[in-house]
Amino acid sequence: MRVVRVHDFDLNLPMLIDEVPKPEPKEGEILIKSQAVGLNPVDIAIRAANHPYAKLVKPPYIPGAEASGEIVELGNGVSDFSVGERVYGRAIDGAYSEFVRLDARASAVLPSSCSFEQGASMTVAFYTAWNALVIKAQVRPGEIVLIQGGAGGVGSAAIQLAKRLGCVVITTVSSKEKSEFCRSIGADYTINYKEEDFVSKSLEITNGKGVNTIVELCACDNFDKDIDAVCVDGQVIVVGTGTGKGPETEFRVPAVMTKDVHIHGLAVINLFPKMPELIRRFSVLLGEGSLNMNIDKIFSFDEANESHEYILEGKFLGKVILVP
Ligand SMILES: NC(=O)c1ccc[n+]([C@@H]2O[C@H](COP(=O)([O-])OP(=O)(O)OC[C@H]3O[C@@H](n4cnc5c(N)ncnc54)[C@H](OP(=O)(O)O)[C@@H]3O)[C@@H](O)[C@H]2O)c1
Repeated sequence: MRVVRVHDFDLNLPMLIDEVPKPEPKEGEILIKSQAVGLNPVDIAIRAANHPYAKLVKPPYIPGAEASGEIVELGNGVSDFSVGERVYGRAIDGAYSEFVRLDARASAVLPSSCSFEQGASMTVAFYTAWNALVIKAQVRPGEIVLIQGGAGGVGSAAIQLAKRLGCVVITTVSSKEKSEFCRSIGADYTINYKEEDFVSKSLEITNGKGVNTIVELCACDNFDKDIDAVCVDGQVIVVGTGTGKGPETEFRVPAVMTKDVHIHGLAVINLFPKMPELIRRFSVLLGEGSLNMNIDKIFSFDEANESHEYILEGKFLGKVILVP
């Protein structure tokens, strides 16, 4: 089968198209013929050896965390799915591949109204946003939530979810186009962080109190300032370093203490064992069209290197997809 593989931990060296044997699903897995692959910043961070998960793979390896397609084979112990069903979910051992092994616990049937591209963009973005807002922050209706980096995959999922949960949503963007996009999917306020200071704008919007919760997707740029933008006893959910950013940042320890700031970290991978209930709830929302991911651009496997460059340029709205 055709796959895209990373041969070196170096963004200057291209990923290559290779032929490798078709895999077999192991216990608890389903094998799909892939129709779409969701791209994520973590794919690029691992390829650049700029992520702890880089230690878990050895080049040449197949990147990618999520895919959608039709089931061609079921592993032992999988009884909730049938061959031929359209599904989406979390990839095991790479998604940039013609056939992909999915974790059955973190997979779901794709509602007939949904495209494969929509399915391939759900798992990481929406489950991460759910983890941040519902499981970690436990936001309540009327709370003010600041989503840092609203126009990307997780950010656009978080805006939609936070609005459904009854929150007032502020989000940061870097352009007029991104501001219009974020407002179109539910943001109440947008702050262009390149032109305005997000701390003073957040304080202005909240009459000096600060926001209740920050979903931080670019912590390496923002974390220290988040402490000034959040209210006393507020919370910062640290979700990402920021696409293409280094792994470290500095912050004022006394400021965290004096404001009683609650800091939560999260990794979507820790959520996967608890997935079945969450997936059932999501499938309903997906089927009724309540959640929707904007698909910015679709690249073919032959254009995989261009797709990573496109993501690093950072101009896209929503998600970027790769198709075999
Ligand atoms: N913990 C987990 O399990 C988990 C799961 C998924 C994702 N993540 C991480 O979360 C982060 C976001 O993921 P994603 O898929 O949403 O990435 P994405 O699609 O690349 O979106 C990132 C967004 O952040 C914006 N941005 C960049 N610098 C910013 C800054 N200083 N302040 C505010 N916004 C800024 C970008 O737009 P502009 O450049 O135009 O500002 C872009 O819209 C990544 O670091 C990713 O690795 C973590």
